[in-house]
Amino acid sequence: MLDIQRLARKNVRELKPYSCARDEYNGDTGIFLDANENSIGSVLNIDLNRYPDPRQIELKARIAAIKGSTMDRLFLGNGSDEVIDLLIRAFCEPADDKIMILPPTYGMYKVAADINNVALVEVLLTPAFQIDTVSVLRNTDSVKLIFICSPNNPTSNCLRESDIQKILENFIGLVIIDEAYIDFAPEHSWLPKLNQYPNLVIMQTFSKAWGLASIRLGMAFADSQIIELLTKIKYPYNVNGATQQLALEALSYVDKKNDLVAQILTEREALIKQLKNLKIVKTVYPSDANFVLVKFQGAKKVFDFLIDKQIIVRDRSNVIRCEESLRITVGTAEENKTLINTLKIYRG
Ligand SMILES: Cc1ncc(COP(=O)(O)O)c(C=O)c1O
Repeated sequence: MLDIQRLARKNVRELKPYSCARDEYNGDTGIFLDANENSIGSVLNIDLNRYPDPRQIELKARIAAIKGSTMDRLFLGNGSDEVIDLLIRAFCEPADDKIMILPPTYGMYKVAADINNVALVEVLLTPAFQIDTVSVLRNTDSVKLIFICSPNNPTSNCLRESDIQKILENFIGLVIIDEAYIDFAPEHSWLPKLNQYPNLVIMQTFSKAWGLASIRLGMAFADSQIIELLTKIKYPYNVNGATQQLALEALSYVDKKNDLVAQILTEREALIKQLKNLKIVKTVYPSDANFVLVKFQGAKKVFDFLIDKQIIVRDRSNVIRCEESLRITVGTAEENKTLINTLKIYRG
């Protein structure tokens, strides 16, 4: 049985968190002379002179309701990137514990581990970009966290549910499923299964389907004990007031988010079709995300040619299993047309 408290670092378990003014008094009426804010106002004509709610109560309540979860199972961070860092900091003893990642995958898991002086165990995805569950479960010594990105970046595919389930059921540690791109996938989120797995953490973000990368808002859904530990170690005001206000507003536009997703899916299919007709394209991998991974003949030269034409894609050709491949975000219809027309005039 997994004991979340024992899994956490001792210093985190025993930590007495900083108590900020808004923690000590959280009513919203009165004369507030407790936080050394600018009582007169701000230089901007908007309501930003007060520190924001450190517990993000209103925003969390709305997100929890929309996601069919509860506030005690929801953590909000300065992007998912903050959540990744906090999970490592809460559970991994530097120089002692490890995290596992499944390359090729999102780069921040490794960077966050490196920053925290936490070692990595890397278990390659299979050539079909699926999980080698036997190797994963054989290499879990000192591993506290396994990061699974599904749909995966940069390969853009969902990882098989039965493989993830096997890991959830056999690994005594946290399994983090990064669902940054889940809105673009035919597969369902793992959220409804949160109750079944006390070791499951699901990350989602406002940066992709919601089109709000700039406000920096990431979510983690997990057992309330995990959420409590993350909350203890976060900066008091990690989600700023402007972000909280804008995200609350955005949540009234679920239909618009769905419409953006539908448009991107239409553009994605058109883009894939066009890419497949190009002679320099060797493979367009199936995509469950808002980008496609494309294997080219001479990817680096294609990349440089596109840069020269001021079309910027991501060169992934140095990434293991992504040799000769570029990662291309689905653009607007106009942008995709320009990309295709530019690739058509490329003469290697
Ligand atoms: C798989 C994955 N997770 C997380 C992120 C970052 O999300 P956020 O903007 O919420 O920090 C990205 C960004 O590209 C990503 O590809």
